[in-house]
Amino acid sequence: MTQEIQRVGVVGCGLMGAGIAEVCARAGYMVVVREVNKDFLEAGMARINSSLDKAVARGKLPAASRDQARARIIGATDMGAFSGCDLIVEAAPENLALKRKIFAELDAVAPAYAILASNTSSLAVTEMAAATRRPAQVLGLHFMQPVPVMPLLEMVRTFLTGEEVFQRARAFGESLGKTIVVSKDTPGFIVNLLLIPYLLHAIEALEKGVATQEDFDTAIKLGLNHPMGPFTLLDFVGLDTALFIADAVFEETRDPRFAAPPLLRRMVSAGYLGKKSGRGFYEYGK
Ligand SMILES: NC(=O)c1ccc[n+]([C@@H]2O[C@H](COP(=O)([O-])OP(=O)(O)OC[C@H]3O[C@@H](n4cnc5c(N)ncnc54)[C@H](O)[C@@H]3O)[C@@H](O)[C@H]2O)c1
Repeated sequence: MTQEIQRVGVVGCGLMGAGIAEVCARAGYMVVVREVNKDFLEAGMARINSSLDKAVARGKLPAASRDQARARIIGATDMGAFSGCDLIVEAAPENLALKRKIFAELDAVAPAYAILASNTSSLAVTEMAAATRRPAQVLGLHFMQPVPVMPLLEMVRTFLTGEEVFQRARAFGESLGKTIVVSKDTPGFIVNLLLIPYLLHAIEALEKGVATQEDFDTAIKLGLNHPMGPFTLLDFVGLDTALFIADAVFEETRDPRFAAPPLLRRMVSAGYLGKKSGRGFYEYGK
């Protein structure tokens, strides 16, 4: 029992959910995005509108396409709104109990043929699949932030994901203009498996006084041609997010490469979260 993907559901309209809803609408899909209440929904819709306006201002999107994309997005606060969706992407906060609850709810309201996907960065997709009665129709669709700009989509395939479901989801990802990479459902997937130990190592080296954060960033930018060095990147990703992913992978694997250095933990406790809090390894004006 399959169905062409026409209507996409997005759970959560925060940083990632708003971006996912936007790229789906821009690619021509009808989109239903759900938030927990009216205020969060309004804030999420405002985020989508401002991102679409920016794309127009930068000459990346014709104004008429922006208006069409906007018209394709429906906001909702109840789960029942997903009842006509062919594929639903969950982008709620990174908390396994919450995600399992959402997957059980989605399983109850979504059509039997619908594919359920999670945008999780660090949690086991198999755990979410196991919360449903359709584990063969569950997989990870890990978008990168900011979703409208970043070309990569990391697909996460569990032991239980069906081949036909996987291929349909891949075609969907490609239709969004993304380049697909495929990972097993293993801690860190591809990107964070390599990125997090690198970032933690940079913090350890800073703690040891090897060099200043500015020199680390300059070395990586100019010596390796990366768009940004590790400390600028940490501030951009959010120190709390980096710590959360490190802890989640360490908890599951006990791999010392994911053991967070004390400096990172102290900075997060002190509210130095990076760009979003105005201060991380660097200071940011308002
Ligand atoms: N921020 C990133 O750089 C990034 C990158 C890749 C993946 N992710 C993953 O994406 C997911 C979302 O992250 P985010 O940064 O967008 O978080 P966020 O906090 O900005 O947004 C999450 C939103 O989900 C809403 N929400 C909570 N429970 C809900 C429910 N039951 N139904 C509908 N909405 C609900 C919240 O109100 C909030 O607005 C997480 O799993 C995260 O790990 C984040």
